[in-house]
Amino acid sequence: MSRMAKLELDGKSYELPIVEGTEKELAIDISSLRAQTGYITLDDGYGNTGSCSSAITFIDGDKGVLRYRGIPIEEIAGKSSFVETAWLVIFGHLPTIEDRERFSGLLTESSRLDESMRKHFEGFPPNGHPMAILSAMINALSTHEPVVIDDDRDLEEAAARLMSKVRTIAAASYKASVGEPIVYPRYDMKYVENFLHMMFSVPYRDYEPTPEVSAALNLFLALHADHEQNCSTSTVRMVASSQANMFASCSAGVCALWGPLHGGANVAVIEMLEQIRESGMPVSEYVAKVKDKQSGIKLMGFGHRVYRNFDPRSKILRKAADDLLASMKIHDPLLDLAQELADVALSDDYFVERKLYPNVDFYSGTILRAIGIPLNMFTVMFAIGRMPGWIANWKEIHDDPKGRIYRPRQVYVGHTGEHWMPREERHYDEED
Ligand SMILES: CC(C)(COP(=O)(O)OP(=O)(O)OC[C@H]1O[C@@H](n2cnc3c(N)ncnc32)[C@H](O)[C@@H]1OP(=O)(O)O)[C@@H](O)C(=O)NCCC(=O)NCCS
Repeated sequence: MSRMAKLELDGKSYELPIVEGTEKELAIDISSLRAQTGYITLDDGYGNTGSCSSAITFIDGDKGVLRYRGIPIEEIAGKSSFVETAWLVIFGHLPTIEDRERFSGLLTESSRLDESMRKHFEGFPPNGHPMAILSAMINALSTHEPVVIDDDRDLEEAAARLMSKVRTIAAASYKASVGEPIVYPRYDMKYVENFLHMMFSVPYRDYEPTPEVSAALNLFLALHADHEQNCSTSTVRMVASSQANMFASCSAGVCALWGPLHGGANVAVIEMLEQIRESGMPVSEYVAKVKDKQSGIKLMGFGHRVYRNFDPRSKILRKAADDLLASMKIHDPLLDLAQELADVALSDDYFVERKLYPNVDFYSGTILRAIGIPLNMFTVMFAIGRMPGWIANWKEIHDDPKGRIYRPRQVYVGHTGEHWMPREERHYDEED
């Protein structure tokens, strides 16, 4: 028999089931709370709310553990390509050789954009933000792609089309922004190499990435593939719960990812480092400003809602950044500065007491800079990487026969007892 939690409320006693996850995570199932008591729970920012049960990704924030489908991220990093990781995240186990070949073939076949889609790029201003373009174009894909998914084979095809075309859209939006012709995908190239080709080839010169660059980008994307119920993934699930199609749901995920407190942090980190370097401000002075709540400044790339320890992805990326820069014989002063900031912050009581550690965005920008990805494309790179996680979460909602539309409640704190009044009688104090 399952354990029950007891709730004493208004002189009455209620029992609520305790749910235990496969990693011994405990939750109180409050789904009958309102019906039983008339009360709802209030949890601004959802810090204590489990919005779903999910079998995709496990995080132990206190220990700094991250697993995709039960496999530690440290085992996946460097061994599985982004494509293999994506299949794992979406379908629940590592692909066989046949699965891998079939999925790679589907990705290659789907890489081209319909010519009418390509014309959309002409409608965006040259300096239009690539995240806005990406979201709009993914949504536009719904008008070109079959959106009915009946079984895993349909899903595999749809996932390949989305992942493949997102890569083509991302490269095309970059080309449009720098006034260069859009480069067609090549059928003889793998996922990451093909993306780099579409980003950096020009009509008179083909770009051939080195194995080190391909490996670093594969790693970057694989480490971003999923991260349980973060802001964008919850957005995808929210949209999916209305039975919206996969393309529309993932397009909403792109918008949620854009903000600087989420995927946009990888841009904010580089901007912060550049600002510190240009101002010549000592790192300790910057850290002092961060600690002063009046300043409104945060140490970007630090802190996480779930991790109260090192984000395991940041450790892997730190090493990968060192390796890539060494192979390219590049010295990036921003990486030195980032390390100096991390050293000062990690030995400062403010950060120690609040358990604030470097997160995935703290070092990832150094890798993207070395590859030549422009700053305004950083969050787009995150979106390409997160696509498998969004698809997998969309699938969980889609496949759930008991699925209900996501519809949180609220505690209303606005005006009460107001009445409509004619226009000429409406006089408000300035403060109103
Ligand atoms: C990620 C983030 C949004 C998580 O927010 P959160 O869970 O609401 O964080 P909390 O409110 O629990 O933070 C706890 C305390 O640490 C402080 N804090 C958190 N992140 C901080 C940071 N990066 N710099 C300075 N202080 C920070 C908060 O102000 C709060 O201080 P208080 O207790 O004195 O009020 C937040 O850490 C942040 O803004 N980080 C920088 C942006 C970033 O790197 N985002 C990418 C995430 S992968």
